[in-house]
Amino acid sequence: MKKIVISTGGGDAPGLNAVIYAVVHACYRKGWEVYGSRNGYAGFMDIDEMVRLLPRDVAGIYSTGGTILGSTNKGDPFARPVQNLAGEIQIIDVSDKIMRNFNRMGFDCHIAIGGDGSLDIAHRFALKGMPVIGVPKTIDNDLEQTDRTFGFDTAVSTATDALDKLHSTAKSHRRVMVVEVMGRDSGWIALYSGISGGADVILIPEIPFDMEEVCEKIADNELQDKHYSIVVVAEGAGTVEGQTFNKGRGELGRTELILGGVGEYVAGEVRRRTDKDTRSLVLGHLQRGGSPTTFDRLLALRFGAAAVRLVEERVFDHMVALKNSIMVPVPIADAIKTRKKVDLTSDKIMTARDIGICLGDKDPDREGY
Ligand code: F6P
Repeated sequence: MKKIVISTGGGDAPGLNAVIYAVVHACYRKGWEVYGSRNGYAGFMDIDEMVRLLPRDVAGIYSTGGTILGSTNKGDPFARPVQNLAGEIQIIDVSDKIMRNFNRMGFDCHIAIGGDGSLDIAHRFALKGMPVIGVPKTIDNDLEQTDRTFGFDTAVSTATDALDKLHSTAKSHRRVMVVEVMGRDSGWIALYSGISGGADVILIPEIPFDMEEVCEKIADNELQDKHYSIVVVAEGAGTVEGQTFNKGRGELGRTELILGGVGEYVAGEVRRRTDKDTRSLVLGHLQRGGSPTTFDRLLALRFGAAAVRLVEERVFDHMVALKNSIMVPVPIADAIKTRKKVDLTSDKIMTARDIGICLGDKDPDREGY
């Protein structure tokens, strides 16, 4: 009989609950106990934040968004900012306390569901001796060593749906609509939704964009009697001049900048340079919400069940991954080394260019188009 603890860390993603569902059921069938740590590592610090999970507690949750355990993307246990009595911020390391509590509570394994940040923390606990299995989550799809993360398909569907709706209003008003989507380091959401949603321009972090190229595409549309354009831009995209866009560091304990503002910038430049009516909108956290698509649900359930199999096989400090349609274990250390970028030689990039989408750079084939 084993005692497993599961946690969800970082930004939420549709499919988290499906992983929890699969872990609870797969463990229950083996006669193992499952506990959930609320809000990332809070349960390891305070017993009241550690909850027992039985099949009845997870009934039906596989189809719901968010996470029943709560999540956080601040407060790395290895460098946690706390305010002392004098009001000063001090950075403390609570990882030893978490290790002690993990052992005291008698856990055999921690299943950590997270993106690069949470998996990096999980790996550091593994180095301290905690048996850890990782499950890859992020709507950005930017984790290495797995073909897909759950949450991405749902986010792309939401963004594509939004683009479909924008076409009619853009056309009615002969406007340029600029849509900012998520994608901190990689342009997966922008590229997939932009191609599927009929965008004229897609701007991604992997290709610094030139406003002249963007405006040329909009002018091309006019010449071809198409008097509206749709521009999709990933929040992490930057200009050829090296400008990127953020809103500062945000809440205490966050390690990442809050990105945002590139859509408004692009819209402003288009308006100034083309004199066209231009509007921008930010899809933001809409992309993280809602029910997971069938693809994400199935992927998340498969990840959860595969994670429990890895516990049985004692393959720790590994993450379950999807490679060529099958579940495989990969070292967490390999998954967190770098962010998975869009391959600029891939057929998706070629498809975008082939169907006339501007990617913000000089299109080698534009001549004669
Ligand atoms: O990592 C996923 C993500 O959705 C990023 O694309 C985005 O920059 C970030 O989370 C925003 O997170 P939050 O607003 O929760 O801090």
